[in-house]
Amino acid sequence: MLRVEGLGIRFGGLHAVKDVTATIPAGQITAIIGPNGAGKSTFFNLISGFYQPTTGRIIFQGQDITRLKTHEVVASGMARTFQTTTIYKELSVLENAMIGHRVRTRAGLLDALLRTGRERRDEQESRDAAMTALTRVGIAAHAARPAGAMTQEGQKRVGIAMALASNPKLLLLDEPAAGMNPEETVSLMALIRELVAGGLTVILVEHKMSLVMSLADHILVLHHGQKISEGVPAQVSRDPAVIEAYLGSHAHGGQMGQATAASAGETPHA
Ligand SMILES: Nc1ncnc2c1ncn2[C@@H]1O[C@H](COP(=O)(O)OP(=O)(O)O)[C@@H](O)[C@H]1O
Ligand SMILES: [Mg+2]
Repeated sequence: MLRVEGLGIRFGGLHAVKDVTATIPAGQITAIIGPNGAGKSTFFNLISGFYQPTTGRIIFQGQDITRLKTHEVVASGMARTFQTTTIYKELSVLENAMIGHRVRTRAGLLDALLRTGRERRDEQESRDAAMTALTRVGIAAHAARPAGAMTQEGQKRVGIAMALASNPKLLLLDEPAAGMNPEETVSLMALIRELVAGGLTVILVEHKMSLVMSLADHILVLHHGQKISEGVPAQVSRDPAVIEAYLGSHAHGGQMGQATAASAGETPHA
């Protein structure tokens, strides 16, 4: 589905992502994990065309997309959500999904907002794509509501619908459970599983280790921009390099410790 070879980007002297080679399997959920600042969001920005890599190649469905612009990447079948919610709260849920369709498949936001002649002709197509996306994420009944009136989890679904409106084969989710309570997290996990059961491939970045361990089929671990481990959850959670990376990180050491212990059936260490 997706292969990156020697992928890297430097910001000044900082290698935010360095020499990452990996293959993301189709029809599965792949999680990108790693301590804060590991390069996870940057990795997403590279594969979705928001950043141009300094080194390496990105192959998506057999096509070299390394130099494509973001809307060309979208046209090739990949869509993403952002770490911070980027929905338009005063617009309706349906209008948000329509903007998702237009911005991602046409030239840009300005066109979408100004409703040029071409945009008007495309309105019905956008509306249909948007309604299909809302149905897929289970919020079609809320189409006419202002997006800002939805719950936090509902707003996440709007964000996912915006990405799905371009009908991608691969969906990238940056911290989908951020700001969610446990109940909402469970509900979002179920949604992600449903989407994958329907044929979508998902790559997600997530800090909540317990979530990743039970949700992902395949895990790729970044640390200081480099891939330090890859495999199924049980393998990765036992990998000494991963445990060390997380324990070395004050912010997330505890979370990884719990996840490791839970998946290994052990008592959490002190
Ligand atoms: N546009 C940028 N310019 C300069 N440095 C950046 C930029 N984006 C990310 N970085 C740096 O790259 C590193 C990785 O960041 P990021 O990918 O956001 O990490 P993560 O998502 O894993 O927490 C961090 O040190 C961050 O400060
Ligand atoms: Mg990030």
